[in-house]
Amino acid sequence: MIIAQITDPHVKAGRRIAYGLVDTAAMLEAAVAHVNSMRPIVDTVIVTGDLTDRGKPEEYVSLRSILDNLSMPWHVVPGNHDDRDNFLKAFFDHEYLANSADFVHYAIENQPLRLIGVDTTISGEPHGFLPLERIKWLDTCLSSAPYKPTMLFMHHPPFETGIRHMDVQNLLNADDLFSMLSEHSQVLHVACGHVHRASETCINGIGISIAPNAAHSSTLDFDPEGPSSFTMDPPAIRLFRFSDDNKLVTHLSYIGKFDGPHPYFSANGDLVD
Ligand SMILES: [Fe+2]
Repeated sequence: MIIAQITDPHVKAGRRIAYGLVDTAAMLEAAVAHVNSMRPIVDTVIVTGDLTDRGKPEEYVSLRSILDNLSMPWHVVPGNHDDRDNFLKAFFDHEYLANSADFVHYAIENQPLRLIGVDTTISGEPHGFLPLERIKWLDTCLSSAPYKPTMLFMHHPPFETGIRHMDVQNLLNADDLFSMLSEHSQVLHVACGHVHRASETCINGIGISIAPNAAHSSTLDFDPEGPSSFTMDPPAIRLFRFSDDNKLVTHLSYIGKFDGPHPYFSANGDLVD
């Protein structure tokens, strides 16, 4: 099973350029084409928040005109740049969102790996937080399938990356989440967005990752006084491969045309020298 994670596309209405520089619509289109072209075929896609830049209805129209071109099932979780009401209206036909009201949690059940979307957003706030009600929902959901390998997808990461201006906006109550997860050993990984830069760590034996961005990336700057800024790094997505023996690995996949592939071995079987 192969899962592609696209995060933080920040699409604007009418294909407007974001931050005076970034053609987020075109870059999301390139990401969608990239995912569609992969072989073997990607089984499912999750887009982990900041789908739009300002959460406006017209931005979701632009977004859907691009994401609807994905040739496999796809799912969305909200980020702090989204508006929950407009988000739910835009995805009115996504059945897994049907029970969302105050928060957007759901489980995708019909695959070898159980995928749980988690809503870490608090309206009007840039940071993430999981109120007790949402922690309890997750606890109950995980208790209903304790032996099914599971991944969580959410916008705000529960760890510090060292990029200070982003770290102050991460999931503020990560301890509450991991305290609950300590009772659910089937959770293999938590995949996040928000930081616009690939990063990985491990908490209590659970792998945690942030996906790279298919558009703009946050500047890699460990200076605590460093300004909030972005760079146009090579666009990329994160992939997860879940094997038949229940092993989960993750890769980055860069978007674009690159030289190769070139063979390691010549026609007679010798390593090319
Ligand atoms: Fe973002």
